[in-house]
Amino acid sequence: MSASLESLMRQGRAAVLRPLAQASTLPPAFYTSPEIFEAETARVFARNWVSVGRASEIPNAGDRFRIDVAGEPLLIVRGKDGEVRALSAVCRHRWMLLGTGVESSGTISCPYHKWTYALDGSLMAAPLMEKAEEFEHKDCALPAFGCDVWNGFIFVNLSGDAAPLARSLAPLAAEFAPWKMDEMEIVGQIEFDQPYNWKVLVDNFMEAYHHFAIHPETFEPNYPAAISHAEETSAPFAVLRMPREGNGLSDSLFKPLDGIPDRARRGFSVFNVYPSMLLAVLADSVVWYRMEIAGVAHFKLTVYLLAHPQSLDVPDVETLKTFLREGTFAVHMEDIAACDGVQKGLMSGAARAGRLSHLEGAIHEHQKWLLGELGRA
Ligand code: FES
Ligand SMILES: [Fe+2]
Repeated sequence: MSASLESLMRQGRAAVLRPLAQASTLPPAFYTSPEIFEAETARVFARNWVSVGRASEIPNAGDRFRIDVAGEPLLIVRGKDGEVRALSAVCRHRWMLLGTGVESSGTISCPYHKWTYALDGSLMAAPLMEKAEEFEHKDCALPAFGCDVWNGFIFVNLSGDAAPLARSLAPLAAEFAPWKMDEMEIVGQIEFDQPYNWKVLVDNFMEAYHHFAIHPETFEPNYPAAISHAEETSAPFAVLRMPREGNGLSDSLFKPLDGIPDRARRGFSVFNVYPSMLLAVLADSVVWYRMEIAGVAHFKLTVYLLAHPQSLDVPDVETLKTFLREGTFAVHMEDIAACDGVQKGLMSGAARAGRLSHLEGAIHEHQKWLLGELGRA
């Protein structure tokens, strides 16, 4: 670890590693420094399981999409054997990127010189290479990274040394079981290009302290800041509960799922499955904020709106899906105003670590975890 990284880590630990009532946030450099970003990429995003998509997005052999994880271009592909794989999207010839967005075909063909790969990454054909001596197709397979599916979410582990996915997320399994998320379908998707550090959104998502200021009409009346509360968890996640005002039933657009706990009908919870999988778990749906991190102050955000077929068995469901899309968009636009302002503030020479409210325990939990990961050899 470089001397400047050591010194930032010392400042981070001094601010964060205290009881919540005495703690501050991570110092601004953790949100703005290229060196911290590089360390997060290598030690956090390359080493942990990162959620990249839904298995239902690639139902058939040959279906695939491109995504970057920790700066690594990947193709997430459904094979002929039904397996979902995370293949390197870098051609083994001269590094052209394979694929753009969402595609489907029986082979993966490089647009540059048409080397063609099978869906498991093995090289099938390379035109006009017959004079290259000792050129072997078997030496040119696309590397495959750790990839697994949990609750219908596809996860990738670049380093290959994370614990098996189901074991890593075992502490969440019972909590999520009643939602049967593996059976949920995508009922809407909204994309945003976000010019701020990924943790600015994580922090925003994981506290309701801002409800009365930023969402005075959309959230505060029903889910008031003052009665929200974080739970202490051990890794791998943080959770914030947002009970409904007066212990009333939450209004649901779709049908609330059978078998969910009473608490889930009288409010909702948000989770950060570390490092950055943001989920709002409601009585009738799940909202997932998928971040594709592109730089220290840039990520692509895709908001996935998910619901179980049971919940969607209601009259005029298409109109309700549109309401959900529009409502989610409107709330996120309110949050964008805050996140944009925070990013500008973070760049100021006057910015320093800020004290946390008792309502910001989920931010504190995440930052403690992050310091632990960054400090791991
Ligand atoms: S770079 Fe892919 S075939 Fe040449
Ligand atoms: Fe918000």
